[in-house]
Amino acid sequence: MSTHPAPTTITVATAAPYDVLVGHGALDRLPALLPAGAQRVAVVCPESLEGLLDRVLDAYPALAEEYDVTVLQIPDGEEAKTAETASACWDALGEEGFTRSDVVVTLGGGATTDLGGFVAATWLRGVAVVHVPTTLLAMVDAAVGGKTGINTDVGKNLVGSFHEPVGVLCDLALLDTLPREELVSGLAEVIKAGFIADPAILDLVEATDPADLTADSPALRELVERAIRVKADVVAGDLKETAGAAGAAHPGRETLNYGHTLGHAIERASGYALRHGEAVAIGCVYVAELAARTGGLDAAVVERHRSVLARVGLPTSYGGEATFEELLSAMAVDKKARGSVIRFVVLEDLARPVVLAGPSEDDLRAAFEAVSR
Ligand code: GLY
Repeated sequence: MSTHPAPTTITVATAAPYDVLVGHGALDRLPALLPAGAQRVAVVCPESLEGLLDRVLDAYPALAEEYDVTVLQIPDGEEAKTAETASACWDALGEEGFTRSDVVVTLGGGATTDLGGFVAATWLRGVAVVHVPTTLLAMVDAAVGGKTGINTDVGKNLVGSFHEPVGVLCDLALLDTLPREELVSGLAEVIKAGFIADPAILDLVEATDPADLTADSPALRELVERAIRVKADVVAGDLKETAGAAGAAHPGRETLNYGHTLGHAIERASGYALRHGEAVAIGCVYVAELAARTGGLDAAVVERHRSVLARVGLPTSYGGEATFEELLSAMAVDKKARGSVIRFVVLEDLARPVVLAGPSEDDLRAAFEAVSR
């Protein structure tokens, strides 16, 4: 009998609201989440999680008894996010006679959520999808908010759509076997949520022995819940990331990109040797340094970025080989997304994010030097 409290429900209040369940035992709710009328369930799962999938199917025999279950096995990690893998999934759905009332279930990390969500978004112009994230990063970010996509030869996530799940099950028991470095990487997105919207997250990290942040700990559960609430609130206000005109009162969904502009650039420059959360951690310190120069962000808040991130074991400075000029041109790719100037989300203060459009190269360079070692 589990000693953990029942899962918490967090509603993402978009036009098609759905619940995110957080806690040990959340997976028990899977059968109840499958839409009425569904006959077929396609489980999208990477090769390395087959053992976990077998355990899920054993634990919930009703799934195989009541539904026609097909497993769509995909490559591990980003390798899965290709047009070829999506096409193989579409072929399998076609062979199964998968209809509009059937349901896709993703079981895996962020790449699985992105690819499986994309397949669900595109099959018959959209079928239901339930996400079961198995990493901390996917729980607090990729599984919530409906972003789906694949990579192309030209770049990451360039093809995709917004397709919200009908439910998300964040079963913290699944984090038991997650390598420590992956858990720590996920904490970068949690701490990011603390800086952009919920400073109680920062207080909690500062008050908790990092060794106690384990899958079983109430502190980790509270952090996950708080980070998901931040994301749920942001996407409910700006699902399609259109709110953040420069100078707008709140940057909307773009806020979630806090720390990601430099983060993505150094992640790519490292050939993905740096984990996403590690790169975002350095990126968060970078935008704090930038905000100190461009908007007078208090030095104590800048230092708090370093201390909170370092406390959980995340890096706060960049020692890689890429030069400022190389990273600047990588960051400038982001300008394609909007207008012609490079954009960052920065803080005026804790939980007061704004868009900084077109900072000077001198400020960008000085902030880079402040995070370089
Ligand atoms: N990962 C950022 C977003 O969902 O908008």
